[in-house]
Amino acid sequence: MANGQPIGRHPGWPARLGPLTVPGGVVEVRAPRLLDGRAWSRVRLRDQAYLQEWEPTAPGTWAERNATSAWLGQWSTLRALARRGMSLPFVITVDGRLAGQVTVGNVVRGALCSAWVGYWVASDAGGGGVATAAAALVVDHCFGPAGLHRIEATVRPENIASLRVLAKLGFREEGLFRRYLDVAGAWRDHRCLALTTEDIPTGLVNRLVTAGKAVIPQLGSG
Ligand SMILES: CC(C)(COP(=O)(O)OP(=O)(O)OC[C@H]1O[C@@H](n2cnc3c(N)ncnc32)[C@H](O)[C@@H]1OP(=O)(O)O)[C@@H](O)C(=O)NCCC(=O)NCCS
Repeated sequence: MANGQPIGRHPGWPARLGPLTVPGGVVEVRAPRLLDGRAWSRVRLRDQAYLQEWEPTAPGTWAERNATSAWLGQWSTLRALARRGMSLPFVITVDGRLAGQVTVGNVVRGALCSAWVGYWVASDAGGGGVATAAAALVVDHCFGPAGLHRIEATVRPENIASLRVLAKLGFREEGLFRRYLDVAGAWRDHRCLALTTEDIPTGLVNRLVTAGKAVIPQLGSG
């Protein structure tokens, strides 16, 4: 048993989180589905220039890696990692349409109980608080049902939008990792920011709602 969960079952997985209303729309996060391939590919191919500057270098061309046919491999890898308790992979929907991903990876339990979080949001859904809302839902879930204690994010110093997302969520600066990750074809420095459960006793969603940055819609009303 781990955190009261039967062995072989990943605490906190699968999960569907939200909704949370922000200026960009109604944000939900859920497990990836095989049928997400077409929408995922359409957004990723369209947003190549905007996304690839920030994403880890990988084999093959962008078109190959992000074709609809590539989703089967992506989806089955994400699902396998989630089932083994190593990852919590989510897609973000805005007003019901796929608009990005939030992934919690490298889940380590025992005395560490830590993981990293990463995200991307479609260019036409950006700037409206979507990434902030999605990350808040996921971090709260990690510190609740998933039983983690620490979440870290590593970001290139040039990535102003992502650093702003983390600042809005209250992530603390922990240091600079030199030549940490191969991004867009070169080893890039990354700033490391983190949160532990003690930083947010009442949760990130609650903090956003209290600050007037997000609203929990009343389901079933009207
Ligand atoms: C980073 C990313 C996820 C942000 O998504 P988003 O939904 O636009 O995020 P939010 O709307 O919640 O917050 C973005 C904030 O950055 C600000 N911002 C965006 N671009 C900016 C810029 N060039 N200069 C200053 N601020 C900027 C926005 O104004 C907003 O802050 P505000 O709410 O105080 O106005 C999205 O831009 C993205 O997918 N980028 C490419 C992939 C990536 O960088 N992933 C993260 C890797 S660490």
